[in-house]
Amino acid sequence: MSIQKKKILLGVTGSIAAYKVGDVIRRLRDKGHEVTVVMTKEAQEFITPLTFAGLTANKVYTQIFQDPDSGAMAHIKLGTESDIFLIVPATANIIAKLAHGLADDLLTCIAITTKAKILVAPAMNVEMYENKIVQENCKKLASHGFKFIEPAHGKLACGVTGMGHLAEVDEIIKAVEMG
Ligand SMILES: Cc1cc2nc3c(=O)[nH]c(=O)nc-3n(C[C@H](O)[C@H](O)[C@H](O)COP(=O)(O)O)c2cc1C
Repeated sequence: MSIQKKKILLGVTGSIAAYKVGDVIRRLRDKGHEVTVVMTKEAQEFITPLTFAGLTANKVYTQIFQDPDSGAMAHIKLGTESDIFLIVPATANIIAKLAHGLADDLLTCIAITTKAKILVAPAMNVEMYENKIVQENCKKLASHGFKFIEPAHGKLACGVTGMGHLAEVDEIIKAVEMG
């Protein structure tokens, strides 16, 4: 059975797990999917747009303004042209912003305009992940149709072991193909 090729908009946020996104992109492209990356400002503290431009063979979007190539409408166009909006890794901060409908950067503007299925793979420290407000935000988003690729229990970047570890790449790819 042939797998349907998808246009995937990949949102990257400011987590230490951002370095794993390269592997996600490689696996998606190996399966024939087209990937375009949009990054928050904080994500760029962890990994450069240049890396993702090379890995996707596509322009990387980082700003809501000053983007003449996209006719100043990237905040709408990118979402409406995609089959899936995959946010990997998703910070506690972006989850809170999405749960409240904020739209103060390119990634959040896309999230409130797109009709694409939104998949969210959280990655964060265990205390952040188990925080009641973070959990409420996740539940609220799930109730609005966001699909969560649940984090795993494992050794976290902060040195402790607990929930919050970004889901394995296999799980992320499986979720995209089911989405
Ligand atoms: C070294 C370092 C690692 C971080 N890792 C995470 C993380 O894994 N998950 C998370 O939710 N926040 C993490 N943060 C905090 C976020 O970067 C911060 O909340 C930021 O405002 C997120 O912005 P964004 O959601 O717009 O990308 C980290 C911060 C630092 C300095």
